Amino acid sequence: MRLVATLFILVLLCPTSVRADEPRNFEDHILPLLREHCANCHRPGKTRGGLDVTTMEKLEKGGSAGPSVISGLAENSPLFRAISHIGNEEAMPPEQDKLPPHILAAFKGWIEGGLKPNATGRARETRAVVQLTVDSASFGAPSTPPVFIRSLPPRADAPHLVRALPVMALAANPWAPIIAVGGQDETVLHDLSDGHRIGSLPFAAGEVRVLRFSRNGQVLLVGGGRPTSSGKVELVELKTGNSLAMVGEDFDVVLAADLSPDQSLVATAGPEKLVRVYRVADGALVWTMKKHADFITSLEFSPDGKHLASADRAGGIFITDATNGENPRLLAGATDAVNQLAWRSDARSLAAACGDGQALLYDPVSSRLVAKWAAHEGGCLSIAYGREGSLLTGGHDAKASLWEESGKQISQFKNCDTAAFRVVFTSAQNPLVGDWSGDVREWTPEGKEVRVLSARVRN
Ligand code: HEC
Repeated sequence: MRLVATLFILVLLCPTSVRADEPRNFEDHILPLLREHCANCHRPGKTRGGLDVTTMEKLEKGGSAGPSVISGLAENSPLFRAISHIGNEEAMPPEQDKLPPHILAAFKGWIEGGLKPNATGRARETRAVVQLTVDSASFGAPSTPPVFIRSLPPRADAPHLVRALPVMALAANPWAPIIAVGGQDETVLHDLSDGHRIGSLPFAAGEVRVLRFSRNGQVLLVGGGRPTSSGKVELVELKTGNSLAMVGEDFDVVLAADLSPDQSLVATAGPEKLVRVYRVADGALVWTMKKHADFITSLEFSPDGKHLASADRAGGIFITDATNGENPRLLAGATDAVNQLAWRSDARSLAAACGDGQALLYDPVSSRLVAKWAAHEGGCLSIAYGREGSLLTGGHDAKASLWEESGKQISQFKNCDTAAFRVVFTSAQNPLVGDWSGDVREWTPEGKEVRVLSARVRN
């Protein structure tokens, strides 16, 4: 009897509570909460953080960090993360206790129910959910090395090669001895601890033109597609080799792509001269940038996740804000095609490989060119920054070189047969060079060859 009475009183005390199965909508349930708890600082004339919460349209547009609510995905929505104190978002409302659970539940229900505008309005369709976001606290070295698959089952549909393809895409895991080599409709994984071929990951979208490991080493980004027709990016879980998501609605092959350090965004670009940034969670296009005058050849998020740098075949290099594409800045000084960009791990230097053979270094804060030197005769094709700040370049002259940031050469690796098309550092910080003939060579920084992995011999 006492229990029944207590329940009855509780019900009386919460006259505005909604039944759990009643869908929440903006007008009746969310706007009153926003007015009471948030509008003091987030309304027309006082938009702290750039955010106005007084209409649904403005709430969706969001503030300086981009859209504040994502249909179907409460835990990916900056607004919900801020009020429930998840992740790196500033806790809201600031300097107050967390809002009570029934209010958090109302926001969660409304977002997950598809952002219904009012009692009669329709809920938004909610897209498939991919939960990959990591906190910025984990951007550095992981406490344990990433686990990776040791062998992939042989594929009956493996492409039959008459001749080896140039190494157009090459990536080395930052924290584990595993590398990925791009090919036609596939990515081949090798284990550098013993050189064995782990196997081939199919890429249904077409040719593989860009490969990158996530900053934590657990996800492999595969970008490419079919020239003049479609471009896609696939995210693959390294532990299992399974596809996590296919992102991108580009109309030409993806030549440049990257996954943001917090794994929430994928940027793509290519012959369309357009940078597109998609949200990993639901594949939605978040922003685009139309500044480049020629094919975009390379792009990379800064290691702190704040900026996106992109470069094109006409020598244009731009840096923009990563979350919304605002404040684009031109980095002048390249007098020929820029083939590749690379950020230093502290985000305080940006390197560029140029078609005229030069290596360029920029200060990304002032946009100033701070160093340049002739790196390769006939063209510098690829550039990579080592963890300790040394630079690796590859060129048309069939050589790869290791440099100090002053442009002083540390060592040179000459055994490439043909153009040194792609260079990267392995997790052990050894130079790795992929060439035009399809070979991948690992060197010690002193210039001793460790091994050759050849695409011409299928082992
Ligand atoms: C006392 C003033 C104040 C109140 C009340 C307040 N905020 Fe904020 N809010 C701010 C400030 C200031 C920022 C900018 C913080 C920053 O960028 O460091 C901000 C930023 C935000 C952002 C990030 C916007 C962006 O895109 O960068 C969100 C989301 C947000 N608030 C949601 C809320 C919600 C939801 C409420 C109510 C539950 C609320 N805020 C209440 C002051 C307030």
